[in-house]
Amino acid sequence: MTTILAIESSCDETSVSIISNGKELVNLIASQFFHSKYGGVIPELASRAHLLKIQELTNQALQKANLTMNEITAIAVTKEPGLVGALVVGSSFAKGISVQYDIPIIPINHIEGHLYSIFLEEDNKEVFPYIGLVVSGGHTSLFYVESYSSYKLIGNTIDDAAGEAFDKIGKLIGMEYPAGPLIDIAAKEGNNNAFNFPRPLINEKNYNFSFSGLKTSVRYFLQKERPNGLAEEELSDFLASIQEAICEPLVKKSILAAREYNCKVIAVSGGVSANSRLQHLLKDNKKNIDVYFPSTKHSIDNAAMIGFLADKKLKSNDRKLFLDLQFTVSSRFINW
Ligand code: KG4
Ligand code: ZN
Repeated sequence: MTTILAIESSCDETSVSIISNGKELVNLIASQFFHSKYGGVIPELASRAHLLKIQELTNQALQKANLTMNEITAIAVTKEPGLVGALVVGSSFAKGISVQYDIPIIPINHIEGHLYSIFLEEDNKEVFPYIGLVVSGGHTSLFYVESYSSYKLIGNTIDDAAGEAFDKIGKLIGMEYPAGPLIDIAAKEGNNNAFNFPRPLINEKNYNFSFSGLKTSVRYFLQKERPNGLAEEELSDFLASIQEAICEPLVKKSILAAREYNCKVIAVSGGVSANSRLQHLLKDNKKNIDVYFPSTKHSIDNAAMIGFLADKKLKSNDRKLFLDLQFTVSSRFINW
């Protein structure tokens, strides 16, 4: 019997989860919605908000699971990558309770957490190897995943992340942060091919992505072609065309990778995995490839994915996984 208390605080969600024998008992997520009025996440404010929330969420999680700290086998905490100050809040809190209750800590990489988060859904059967597309506001990466302990990064964005492209382009036309979900909704009414925006690297024989050229092209289009702003009746066409330009390279390269690496499954995770057009295009692949998505509570930043992976690591009995209390957080993914 293993019961893991998991903590996630890498960006703007404070989350505490309890995973018992690989099953999620509780997954509490407190999102810091107040950042939207600044047009993006303010790191210092994020750290303070984590600090105010983390103890309360931990108490609530234990209460909901009807457990005490003495029944916890290990503490899992996000170590990297993320906002350093935000990560420090979670890891310091974890270290504190680790000392107080003499419970080991398992530091977890946030991207690895996303990569395996699809298996928190009961319908998604554990299948290896698969192609993992991690696509969020900070990351756009393709992985070849062989097991819970073995995977290879095969492609990455060379500039902006896909979620960042949604958010920055939305900002250009005055949308609130994060614009991704708003564009998804507005684009449903629009024509995906009304405007032709660039899809850099889409035909290159590698698995890399690039989205900053799209943002620049949209900025020039708005300045030159629509100096007085977009007409209301063309807004949904405009947004649908932008969404298509972001989704198409993601879909094309994921399917290419699945075929080249002989994988029957593509697993999409991270905030942008919620995008309805991305989901539709991937599911409609006609190549007999199953596509797994996490549910919303597992696609946004959450501690259940951190605890789930920690549980797998705990079962592998690799003592190297238990770092001592000297471990430090990092803004970067230092394993690559
Ligand atoms: O994984 P996440 O919650 O946080 C990190 O970035 O780590 O992802 C947030 C990103 C934002 O850029 C947001 O605009 C995007 O995910 N996003 C979406 C959708 N829902 C969230 N983008 C497009 N369509 C959506 N439905
Ligand atoms: Zn994330």
